[in-house]
Amino acid sequence: MLIKPLCTIALLALPLFGSAQDNNNISLSSQSQSAALVSDELVSQLDVTNEFTQQELLTSEAQHRIKQFAGQLKSALVTAIKEQGLAHAVNVCHERAPQIAQELSTDGWRVARTSLKTRNDVNKPDQWELETLKDFDRRFKGGTAASQLTASLTGPEQYRYMKAIPTDQVCLACHGSSVDADLSASINRMYPNDIAIGFTLEDIRGAFTLSKQINE
Ligand code: HEC
Repeated sequence: MLIKPLCTIALLALPLFGSAQDNNNISLSSQSQSAALVSDELVSQLDVTNEFTQQELLTSEAQHRIKQFAGQLKSALVTAIKEQGLAHAVNVCHERAPQIAQELSTDGWRVARTSLKTRNDVNKPDQWELETLKDFDRRFKGGTAASQLTASLTGPEQYRYMKAIPTDQVCLACHGSSVDADLSASINRMYPNDIAIGFTLEDIRGAFTLSKQINE
C-alpha cells in the first residue's frame, strides 16, 4: 500500500501551487525542474489514485489564494486608514478589493467575495453561495467560530471553495452598528443598495468564494 503515499509525494512535487504572483519566468523554470523529478511510473500511478489527492491540492491552492487576498486587502486597508483616514479607505475598498480579486483570478481560478448582506450588488451570492452562507450561519449559531467555516464542491467541470470572513475590530468602522454619519453618507452615495452594516465583532461578515475550471 505504498502507492497512495508515493503518489502524494509525487503530486506534491508537481508544480500545481503556482500562485497568481509567481506566474513568471522564475516559476516556469522551477516547474520544469520539479516535473523532471517525477518518474513515468509514478505518473501512471497518479492517474488511478489521484482523485482524492487532486481535491486536496485544489483546496490548498484555494486557501493559498485566499491568504493572499486577505493579506493584501487588509494591509491596504490598514495603511489607508492610518495615513489618510476612513473616508479615503472607502475608496481603497472600492478600487483595490475588486482589483486584487482580479489579479488573483488566474489559471482558471475566479476569486471573489460575497455575503448575505452585501454592500456592492456585484458581490451578491449565487445559489450555491447562498446555501453555503446560510449553512455557515447555522454552524456559527451552533458554536463554530467564523474563522473555522469552510465548504467545497467538486463538480465534473468545476471545483468551488468558500471560507467565511470573520468581522475584526477594524471592519466595524464601515460595517458596524454605529458608522459615523458623514462616512455613512459617502458610502451610501457610492452604494445606494448597501446593507452591509450592523455587524458585530467576530460575526461572519461574508466569505471568500473561489472557483476553478477543472476540465479543459
Ligand atoms: C473604510 C471602510 C471599510 C472598512 C474599514 C472595511 N470595509 Fe468591507 N467594504 C467596504 C466597501 C466600500 C466595500 C465594497 C467594495 C466593492 O465595491 O467591492 C466593502 C465590501 C466588503 C465585502 C464584500 C461583500 C460586500 O458587502 O459587497 C466584504 C466581505 C467586506 N467588505 C469585509 C470587510 C472586512 C472583513 C473588513 C475588516 C477586515 C472590512 N470589510 C472593512 C468598506 C470597508
